[in-house]
Amino acid sequence: MSIKVYLNEDEIPRQWYNLAADLPSPPLPPLGPDGKPVSPQALAAVFPMPILEQEMSPNRWIDIPDEIIQIMYRWRPSPLRRAVYLEKALGTPAKIFYKDESVSPAGSHKPNSAVPQAWYNKQFGTKTLTTETGAGQWGSALAFACSLLGLTCKVFMVRISFDQKPFRKTMMQTWGATCVASPSTETAAGRSFLAKDPSTPGSLGIAISEAVEAAVSDPTGSTKYALGSVLNHVLLHQTIIGLEAKKQLAKIGINNPDVVIGCAGGGSNFGGIAFPFVSEKINGAKIDIIPVEPASCPSMTRGKFAYDFGDSAGMTPLLAMHTLGHNFLPSPIHAGGLRYHGMAPLVSQAVVEGLVTPRAVAQLECYRAALQWARTEGFIVAPETSHAIAVTIQEALKAKEEGKEKVILMNLSGHGLMDLLGYQKYLAGELSDYVLPQKEIETAEAELAAFPQAPIHKSGKW
Ligand SMILES: Cc1ncc(COP(=O)(O)O)c(C=O)c1O
Repeated sequence: MSIKVYLNEDEIPRQWYNLAADLPSPPLPPLGPDGKPVSPQALAAVFPMPILEQEMSPNRWIDIPDEIIQIMYRWRPSPLRRAVYLEKALGTPAKIFYKDESVSPAGSHKPNSAVPQAWYNKQFGTKTLTTETGAGQWGSALAFACSLLGLTCKVFMVRISFDQKPFRKTMMQTWGATCVASPSTETAAGRSFLAKDPSTPGSLGIAISEAVEAAVSDPTGSTKYALGSVLNHVLLHQTIIGLEAKKQLAKIGINNPDVVIGCAGGGSNFGGIAFPFVSEKINGAKIDIIPVEPASCPSMTRGKFAYDFGDSAGMTPLLAMHTLGHNFLPSPIHAGGLRYHGMAPLVSQAVVEGLVTPRAVAQLECYRAALQWARTEGFIVAPETSHAIAVTIQEALKAKEEGKEKVILMNLSGHGLMDLLGYQKYLAGELSDYVLPQKEIETAEAELAAFPQAPIHKSGKW
């Protein structure tokens, strides 16, 4: 059997898949400050209309414009590889396949949505895009996309990552973007968080507040905001990963994998690889689908499914999602892209409906897995991706115990060549595990009681 499976350029998927069309219960709408569903017009200051249409679309398939495909040919279709060297080291009968999204210019899956978002904004007349970034992967992806499309790009980067990953900032600057540490003094939201705690490590929630404020306060109206995860349109764009993987598996005679695994921060790379297979599961296939999150930021495994703000200052609509509360400040683990208080509403609903089964893993197990991967497969992965690898190893060892020849499909969401500080600290024995105390979960639940309550889901219905 082949170790690498490629698609020809003319085999690239021409449509994205929208899970919202197939979920057994309809997705719950985002709510405005009055507790009523928000209209696309209410969000028009933040996003361009074509993006809002995708965000709220009930259609199962959405065409990918040819110009976007032309841009993505730089790295797509991405390879599907088989981890034969790891399989051998583990002595597992499982076949482990991984979709390699680290081959994009920015080094992760993030350009799959950065390019469409920049393209639709360009079509719509936007001149500047603002955004947040955690580990810097999304910020550098948007900087790359904006440079190709002639847009100005301004990135608010979570302070802790800004300090830990200075070369990501250089990448953004190389593509012509401006990058500031968040919280910054440039926005009212940033100043208020700094006043509360001048040495705050920042969070994705705070950086989102700053980027949204910077977009909506531009009096010319030509600045819009782009989000790197969480929202429906971002997950939609990422489904190209799973759709390609399906074609690649079919090429080697595999109909469906037995297990699908992706790490989940806001849910975009996980949704991207998993949703085409969630669709198969809705239609009767037996597949274990596992989003993996850090034990220090366990929104799906320990958070509440509730309406909450997507950002820390309360500027976004209320989203029905798994959340640790928008005031949650995650511990400074190295997987910066997984330090987010919430989870994509579509992923959250798939959890509630029992279609996907989340798992939390602590930092040290993830680094151990990343080292085993590097010493077998060779690639040094992003700390976020190491969460998916840890569970892939767990599942491969389970298959060995059960003596089953399972097919495992994992998403390798990014390389870790800009994340070596984390590896350095792990190798020096300086990292530790942090499991979130129950008291913090209870505090968040009490805060969420003030918002409209998400309905309880029972036997397939809200
Ligand atoms: C390499 C990598 N993987 C995963 C993630 C998590 O984001 P998401 O859950 O949206 O895929 C990030 C976010 O920055 C990332 O950089």
